[in-house]
Amino acid sequence: MSEYILEMHDITKEFSGVKAIEGINLKVRAGECVGLCGENGAGKSTLMKVLSAVYPHGTWEGTITWDGKELKAGSIRETEEAGIVIIHQELMMVPHLSVAENIFLGSELTTAGGFMDYPRMNARAAELMAMLKMPDINVAQKVSAYSGGKQQLVEIAKALNKNARLLILDEPTSALTASETRILLDIVKELKAKGMACVYISHKLDEVAEIADTVTVIRDGTHIGTAPMAELDTGKIISMMVGREMKNLFPREAHDIGEVVFEARNITCWDATNPERKVVNNISFELRKGEILGVAGLVGAGRTEMVSTLFGCYPGLYEAEVILEGKKLKIREPIDAVRNGICMVPEDRKRQGIVPLMGVGHNITMSVLPRFITGGLIDAEAEMAQIQHEILRMKVKTAQPLLPIASLSGGNQQKAVVAKMLLPEPKVLILDEPTRGIDVGAKYEIYKLIFELAKQGVAILMVSSELPEVLGISDRVLVVGEGQLRGNFINDGLTQETVLAAAIGKPVTAAA
Ligand SMILES: Nc1ncnc2c1ncn2[C@@H]1O[C@H](COP(=O)(O)OP(=O)(O)OP(=O)(O)O)[C@@H](O)[C@H]1O
Ligand SMILES: [Mg+2]
Repeated sequence: MSEYILEMHDITKEFSGVKAIEGINLKVRAGECVGLCGENGAGKSTLMKVLSAVYPHGTWEGTITWDGKELKAGSIRETEEAGIVIIHQELMMVPHLSVAENIFLGSELTTAGGFMDYPRMNARAAELMAMLKMPDINVAQKVSAYSGGKQQLVEIAKALNKNARLLILDEPTSALTASETRILLDIVKELKAKGMACVYISHKLDEVAEIADTVTVIRDGTHIGTAPMAELDTGKIISMMVGREMKNLFPREAHDIGEVVFEARNITCWDATNPERKVVNNISFELRKGEILGVAGLVGAGRTEMVSTLFGCYPGLYEAEVILEGKKLKIREPIDAVRNGICMVPEDRKRQGIVPLMGVGHNITMSVLPRFITGGLIDAEAEMAQIQHEILRMKVKTAQPLLPIASLSGGNQQKAVVAKMLLPEPKVLILDEPTRGIDVGAKYEIYKLIFELAKQGVAILMVSSELPEVLGISDRVLVVGEGQLRGNFINDGLTQETVLAAAIGKPVTAAA
C-alpha cells in the first residue's frame, strides 16, 4: 500500500487544443496539507477540477489513484461519495435558499414520508455553525443575508457535512476578514490532526506557509517542484512561482504630487437593506494630482460603499458632494463618472466588473466603444488592434482574445478589468481591492502600473485590506472604521500597528 491517499500522475488537460496543464504530478498523504502554488493561470484550479471530476474522467489524460485504486469518476457526485470535496474559488451558494438548505443542497434529509426534514437539517446546520465559531448565524435565514466571508464559511460547513477525507480549498480566504481567516486556518488544522488530507490553494503565501506540510508549485501548466514546507519560506515559493528572485515586492517610484484635483465632501451612505443605518457617516477627503491615496480599514468598515458613491454604483441611498478640478459633478451612474474622468475597478469582479459570457477583448473595449464607431459602424479592425495592445500591455493570459472572459483564471479576469478602466484615460482612478486573487508577479505589474499612472498625474484612490500593500505603495493613508474617517496619515514611517489601532478606534497620536 502506498503511503499516499491520493496520487495524481502525469495529468494533462486541454481546452480546445490548448494545454492548460501538462504532465502534472501531485501526491497527498492522509493528514497532510499540500499547498498548491502558482501564478494566475498556472493551472491550479484546473488541476483541482480534474481531481473533483468537474472535468469527468475521459476529458483529460493521466491517472488518479485514490485510496489504492484508480479513480475514474464521471461526476462530482461520485468524487464526493469517495470523500473528495472541493470548495471552489468562486462562491457557489444559492442566494435565495437558507443557510441550512445550502448546506444540504443535493443531499437533503427527508422524513419517512419523503418530505424535507427541516428540523433535522436546521439542527445539524446549527451544530456545524457552532463548530465554525459562528453560533450567531440563523440557519433558517437566506444565505444572501450574510457577508461573502460568512458565506464562504457556510461553504466549509457544507463540505464538512459531506464527510470529506480530502478537502480541496481553492482560494478560500480571499473574501474573509482576518478573524474569519483565523477560524478557517484553525479548523483546517483540527481536521488535519484527525487525519483529513487537504489541498490548499492561496496567493496569500503566509497562509500557505502556516498550514502546508508540503508545497507543490506549478508554472504555465507544468510541474516546477515539490518540497516540504520546512525546507521553504515564502521567498523561495515566490521564486519558484515566478522563475526568478523577487527582492522587492513594491516597485516604489518617485512621483510628483500636485494640486488638489478631486474632493469628496460629506459622503454619507445608508444601508441598502436597512435604511435606518448609516454605513458611511460624513466622510470628506481630498485627492491631489499624482497622489496615491490608500484607504485602509477592516472588512465591513464602509470603504467599498464610500467609493461606490463616487462612481455612481452604490445601490442604497447616499449623499455626497463630488468636485473634480473645481467643478461640481452630478454622478448618478457609472457612465457619468467615466465621462467626467473618474474610473473604478470594483471589488466584486463577478457582479460589477465583467460581462462573463462576452469575450475578454470586448470586455476591455466596452468602456470606450464609441471611439471605434465611424458612420454608425464599428471599426472591428481598430477595435481588435486596441484589444491586442491591451492584452499584451497587461499580460492577460488568454488563448485568444475572443474567449469568454469567464473562462480565464481569476487573476487574468482582474487584469482585463483593470485594462478596461484605464482605456478612458481617467483623471481619478479608484481601485477597490485591485490585487485580490492576484499572484505576486501580477501584483508587482499592477503596482508598477499604479506608479506609472501617478507619474502621469493620475490621482489614485486605492482601497485595500492588505496592509503591507497599502503601506507599500501609498503616499497617504485614510483609515475608515465603522463608517467614519478615523485617520489620515502621511505614509512616512507609518506602521501597520498605527493603522490598525486607528481602524479599530483606539486613540492614536501620530495623526497628520
Ligand atoms: N473552460 C476553459 N476554457 C478555456 N480555457 C480555460 C478554461 N478554464 C481554464 N482555462 C485556461 O487554463 C489556464 C489555467 O487556468 P486556471 O483557472 O487553472 O488557473 P489558476 O492557476 O487557478 O489561476 P488563478 O490563480 O488566477 O485562479 C488558464 O490559461 C485559463 O485561461
Ligand atoms: Mg484558480
